[in-house]
Amino acid sequence: MIATMPDVDANLKPPAKIVQALKKRVGQLQMLPVVAQEALQIVKDPQCSISQFTNVVKRDVKLTGDILEMANSALYCPVTPIVDLNRCVMRIGFRECQYLILSASVASLMHRVTMTQEWVRENLWLHSFTTALLSTRINRAFHLGFQGEEFTAGLLHDFGRLLIAVVDPETFLKVDPLGYDESPALLDREFDAIGTDHCRLGAWFTHSQQIPNPIPSVILNHHQPELAEEHQRLTALIAVADQLANDWQRLGDRMLEEFTPPSALSLLADDENGAFVASFTEVFPTLLAESHRDAEAMMAAK
Ligand SMILES: [Fe+2]
Ligand SMILES: [Fe+2]
Repeated sequence: MIATMPDVDANLKPPAKIVQALKKRVGQLQMLPVVAQEALQIVKDPQCSISQFTNVVKRDVKLTGDILEMANSALYCPVTPIVDLNRCVMRIGFRECQYLILSASVASLMHRVTMTQEWVRENLWLHSFTTALLSTRINRAFHLGFQGEEFTAGLLHDFGRLLIAVVDPETFLKVDPLGYDESPALLDREFDAIGTDHCRLGAWFTHSQQIPNPIPSVILNHHQPELAEEHQRLTALIAVADQLANDWQRLGDRMLEEFTPPSALSLLADDENGAFVASFTEVFPTLLAESHRDAEAMMAAK
């Protein structure tokens, strides 16, 4: 079951100007369809059956289609197509399906949100998909034990950047050159310009939209996983994938020439003899190239 976020949102509320601007776009920025909210609510009951769950979801034909599309994508690569929601739950698992609902809803939102500069949306979307797919590949390759939350968190980690681009496109382009370089200076520039940064804004907004923890918590700390008081391993995984996705998107193969392992790796696994980092360094280029390729394919299919 997905937990709800503790009451930490009060300190994260952005300045009134941003809240007002978001309210104007609220229809377009609705993250979870009503049916998705209902489905996530009923699975909190431990007695909830698969058919109860799927009967609720099936009331929303668009949501059902989005879930099945994602279940058949490079995320799961099923050997035979998954054409039915009940089979989807049985194949993927109840817990992972809850995150599939979140991911499918978010992917749909990213697709339909309009911007004055479309290339900004495309750029942020590709980075989000690459980070999400890489998080999942790292999770599977190193048996980290996450069950879908890593994909959703990867997809949403920079949602605050998308929000800034939507409500204040001019300021966004001044502070965020979309150069795949999310250094601390980016957060400082955002804060100076609009009174919040994309981590705080994304965490506050997703929480206000009923996106359950661990997602808002990961969004809040994805630039400083060492400060995360909860969900630190998941936050570290997203930080690692985020950094590698940025390096790959900025430098391509050149990133391998002077590669230093991301510092957040040390939060992911006990590594007394260095075997984890050595193994990671060996396999990540393949995982990264596959993730970027699949991210482009998933976007093109939309
Ligand atoms: Fe970020
Ligand atoms: Fe990022």
